[in-house]
Amino acid sequence: MLEMEPRERFLAALNGAPVDRPPVWLMRQAGRYLPDYREVRKHAGFWELCHSPELTTRVAQEPLARFKLDAAIVFSDILVVPEALGLGVTFGAGEGPQLAHRLSGPADLAAWKVEGAAQRLGFVSDAVRHLKGALNGSHGILGFAGAPFTLLAYCTEGGGSDDFLEARVMLHQQSALAERALATLADLTAEYLEAQCAAGADTVQLFDTWGGLLDREDYMRFCVPAIRRITEPLRAKGRKVLLFVRGGQHLLPVLGEANVDGFSLDWRVDWREARTRYPRHVLQGNLDPALLLAGEAPVRAATASLIRTMREADHGTRCILNLGHGIHKDTPPQTVAALCDEVAAHG
Ligand code: CP3
Repeated sequence: MLEMEPRERFLAALNGAPVDRPPVWLMRQAGRYLPDYREVRKHAGFWELCHSPELTTRVAQEPLARFKLDAAIVFSDILVVPEALGLGVTFGAGEGPQLAHRLSGPADLAAWKVEGAAQRLGFVSDAVRHLKGALNGSHGILGFAGAPFTLLAYCTEGGGSDDFLEARVMLHQQSALAERALATLADLTAEYLEAQCAAGADTVQLFDTWGGLLDREDYMRFCVPAIRRITEPLRAKGRKVLLFVRGGQHLLPVLGEANVDGFSLDWRVDWREARTRYPRHVLQGNLDPALLLAGEAPVRAATASLIRTMREADHGTRCILNLGHGIHKDTPPQTVAALCDEVAAHG
């Protein structure tokens, strides 16, 4: 097959059309492992960066200039949504995010500034529009948002955590409050993602980074209905939605209920098992991000092996090569280049 252009390849894989090889992009492909990103951050705070269309485009384009990638992801963060709701999100140096106003009872939810929140998120669609203009059709563009439970987890905890106990307690102790908060987050996210699509995103990904903390029953009861509030209106408009659930291998049997076009697979999911269960979905993933710290030879071997697996069932279509979670900040750019070169060599 003739060599395809990056965006053409990315769209073909999303639509289940033939591809010369699987397209590749990497979660957190723009970030602290890249010197240019660190340079930008010397002069701009994280929120300042997110609010500047010129800077977000610059950091989103840097990995495209360095590596043979097929798509860009708009530069932003999932925590822009709680920030737009007035929860006061800050990123302290090296300590992760902090929220000034935690959700712990009904009064906290009543104080969320829902009105005007979608407008306050307009800077993210501005970033998509600016990136779209700069790329001029060369590469695919992904928009994204946090999935409702993952956002709820940060809102209740007031910051990062390993187990997000506060949110898991709330689901069972204040179920109605949790459901209302999830629905509020979901409805805002639906509007926010539609705006990203209208601004030029070719697809959007929901990051359920902490969804894997829940068992199947709770995921079905709380997360799936909230995700459907997002995916139903978007898919009715022909938008394509991908869902990433980190640590969600036990949830795979029920994820089909989320009404998405595809799944981004955590590295612990067996690709063949996922493909057997979901023959028509787009599947994305799922190399272990640790490989990128292990050197070029292991990266190339694992990449070649994954491409072979992708081609077994699908001639490689409906498959997008990616990591099973974001690039670690200590990753050497050389191994990222090796990964992308290896994918390109399979054309
Ligand atoms: O290339 C890309 O993917 C860039 C865009 C992007 C960022 N965050 C930029 C960012 C994306 C897609 C995210 C998503 C995100 N943010 C998630 C879901 C995906 C995942 O990794 O599981 C989550 C849970 C967050 C929340 C978040 N944002 C945390 C916990 C932190 C601090 C700790 C950390 O990992 O850096 C952030 C800050 C953040 N978001 C940075 C970047 C590049 C680092 C900020 C800095 O410059 O210091």
